[in-house]
Amino acid sequence: MKKEKQIFHGSDLEKIEEVYGIKKDTIVPFGGNVNPLGISPLLKKSMRHHVDAISIYPDRDYRTLRSTLSSYCNAPMEHILVGNGATELISVTMRTIAPKKALLIAPTYSEYMREIDLVGGSYTEYFLKEEQNFKVDLEDLKQHLTDEVDLFAFCNPNNPTSSALTVSEIRQLLLHCKKHDIFVMIDETYVEFAPHMEDITAVSLTDEFDNVLVLRGTSKFFASPGLRLGYGICGNPSFLKDLESIKNPWSINTLAALAGEAMFMDIDYIKETKAYINSQRDYCAKELSKCNHRKIYPAYANFFLVRLLDGTTSYDMFERCIKEGLMIRDCSSFHGLEGEYIRFCIQKEEHNKKLIEILKRA
Ligand SMILES: Cc1ncc(COP(=O)(O)O)c(C=O)c1O
Repeated sequence: MKKEKQIFHGSDLEKIEEVYGIKKDTIVPFGGNVNPLGISPLLKKSMRHHVDAISIYPDRDYRTLRSTLSSYCNAPMEHILVGNGATELISVTMRTIAPKKALLIAPTYSEYMREIDLVGGSYTEYFLKEEQNFKVDLEDLKQHLTDEVDLFAFCNPNNPTSSALTVSEIRQLLLHCKKHDIFVMIDETYVEFAPHMEDITAVSLTDEFDNVLVLRGTSKFFASPGLRLGYGICGNPSFLKDLESIKNPWSINTLAALAGEAMFMDIDYIKETKAYINSQRDYCAKELSKCNHRKIYPAYANFFLVRLLDGTTSYDMFERCIKEGLMIRDCSSFHGLEGEYIRFCIQKEEHNKKLIEILKRA
């Protein structure tokens, strides 16, 4: 095994294969944050009959997909836009706003920063505090949302802390931002995994406020990162029009659109995923909270942030796990998590058990 210190992202399975000589299809991807139950059975069934659809162009307005999403999210179809993963919509949002000064809740997903850099904008990171379990201090945060800020972006639940803001906290922030003419982008990529999603999703607030865009993807909850399907909800027609005018036409292919139409309707799969994640999250939290040498934080997403308190470095822990075929995320590349933190997501029960045993070892 090579010894130089490298940071691997959740999806870097090919890189792991190269560096550690472990076959990528044998690695358990604890860093990927993807639903371990795999894709929706309804989607699988529907795809079999629809391969020929690639010989036609998708509907430019994706009416059927948006109408399915309207029922799934309980939002009017006119408020919904679709994109090539949440990633395209993050990019289009940053290009539309081109923020002179964005405020980002941190530590967080690096893509927001990359996209702001690409449009020549600038940002400030508002760091969540470890001693507050990475929970937002609302009054303190408001002090940083001033007239100079034009965009406030955050991820809810947040990657990598798994912490979340409640609907009532988000409402207070939106009111504050409205007064200061700040647009708000909320990335809800992980929201469906939350124990009580209705307590934290901002979708209902898109009716009340015209300064908010909620983004979601299907890569994680619907276990479909290869599909590249995401969507946004916004109650501001002129902002939606601006986003649409920048987007490339047909950025979602015909099969991805059909896949969306099937999986958002797969109620059994959605229920099964939520029940499974809830029970395994409880199990992992219970087991890890018994260890004095590990600290976990309240988790709203399908992953945990863990602090190593016994001198084990995040890199040592990464290596310890990968040697057993389990790939966790060494968090040292996240701004603000320079201490010894790792992140892991919920996988199949037997793999979770194996990982917990390794994490418990001092
Ligand atoms: C917070 C967050 N948003 C967006 C994405 C990317 O989502 P998508 O695959 O829908 O583009 C990720 C992927 O890791 C993520 O963690």
